[in-house]
Amino acid sequence: MIIFHKFAYLLLIFQPIVCANIKFPDDFLFGVASSAYQIEGGYDSRGKTTFDHHWELNSSMVADSSNAKTACDSYNQYQKDIDLLVDLGVNFYRFSISWPRILPRGFPNEVNPDGIRYYNNLIDGLLAKNIQPMVTMFHFDLPKPLQDLGGWTNPVISDLFEDYARILFKNFGNRVKYWITINSNTWGYGDSDWPPMVNQSGFGDYLCVKNTVLGHAKVYHLSKREFREQKSQIGFVVDGRWYEPASESSQNRDAAERAREFNVGIWLNPIYGSGDFPAIVKQRVKTTSEKEGFSKSRLPEFTPDEINFVKNSFDFLGVNIYTSFLVKDVDERNDKDFSWDKDMKAEIYQDSRWEGAKSNWLKVTPWGLRKVLGWIKQKYNNPPMFITENGFSDGGEIEDLGRVKFMELYLKALLEAIDKDRVKVKGYAAWSLLDNFEWLVGYTEKFGLYHVDFADPHRKRTPKSSSKWYKKLIERRQLDEMYKTEL
Ligand code: NOJ
Repeated sequence: MIIFHKFAYLLLIFQPIVCANIKFPDDFLFGVASSAYQIEGGYDSRGKTTFDHHWELNSSMVADSSNAKTACDSYNQYQKDIDLLVDLGVNFYRFSISWPRILPRGFPNEVNPDGIRYYNNLIDGLLAKNIQPMVTMFHFDLPKPLQDLGGWTNPVISDLFEDYARILFKNFGNRVKYWITINSNTWGYGDSDWPPMVNQSGFGDYLCVKNTVLGHAKVYHLSKREFREQKSQIGFVVDGRWYEPASESSQNRDAAERAREFNVGIWLNPIYGSGDFPAIVKQRVKTTSEKEGFSKSRLPEFTPDEINFVKNSFDFLGVNIYTSFLVKDVDERNDKDFSWDKDMKAEIYQDSRWEGAKSNWLKVTPWGLRKVLGWIKQKYNNPPMFITENGFSDGGEIEDLGRVKFMELYLKALLEAIDKDRVKVKGYAAWSLLDNFEWLVGYTEKFGLYHVDFADPHRKRTPKSSSKWYKKLIERRQLDEMYKTEL
């Protein structure tokens, strides 16, 4: 009852929820998400990743100097995770497979049988409880030897990724219906904060995008060519940030559209659109490259064959949705330095008045969800979509009302997107099942529906208010009167 009072105030604040449609479609799927590196631990039973290597060189690259060697210990305690998923009542669980746990050196000649066993147990355990696995093949944990070859900047990576995927389809494809190839980003190729710290913005990051897209498409075609009988659904995941013009001036509106194309379209246009990079991205990078003295664009080209190959290489699209940004046009620069930002010619920032989560980048902007989904629908002919991540960070409180409020607002916006804008969103995964290793900020920011005691060798899991709230939502499949129910 005490909890009831705490939630009751939310009802007053979010009155409009009561007026709008509150019911999710009958076939809508609810899930939660995680990633291997962030939860598994089991460090001694897998090969090293780029992140491990850089952490060893300088542990203070992580805010609390912590690491993911044990994390939530899901490698040993996956049955506890399955029990939580059962308790929540989810339809699907989005988790990722660690490339270096299957192939310790990244290459396909040496397969780790313990890794295969681990994921077999997890998949079978989920299916036994009628929970669909949605499996990401790559979620930021590249085997270190492949990084030594240049990682995602070396075109050979797309073949090695295909080899790895073949092993996954062979071992798990008879039971996994939804595969996500890659949780996309260019981290570390254009900056020095993130491993691999290549810091070659305007060159390394564009190479990474092209090879990522090719790797994805090779795996899509592999599944349709060699594993057709598995009838897999193959998708790609994009970080669906929304870019809103800072004002209605035509310069700022154009700058916001450029920001969308440089950050979202650059991934989606090849796979879900024309097969090539967006026209504005091609044009901007070509012009700036010429002015800087390059003989051709720094943006790699897709050949006509590659365009045909990557175009339409999808069954669905996964969108991670967290936050939004404001965009202002900036003056053209005429120096020799080059970078993605210079090509984009836009300043990106957030309004300091927007309510924030613990992560400095995460501002609560549910309106951005509807806008980014609407933009994708209009640009790419309304592909079937899943929200593959959506979540809120805090300090790890058990009564996590900030997270409940966040999910309520974003799910309400999602219902509007489905009902009013007719976007084809088939399901939603909350990030994340458990508090876990949040990359460069370690264990200082928590996203879990379940608290994990990282001081306890057994990594005790404790339900937070948000898990109880989400469980009720899944049971009732609607957003109203949530807080009238005793949690
Ligand atoms: C997106 C990433 O996919 C995930 O690994 C990360 O933990 C969340 N964002 C929160 O930052």
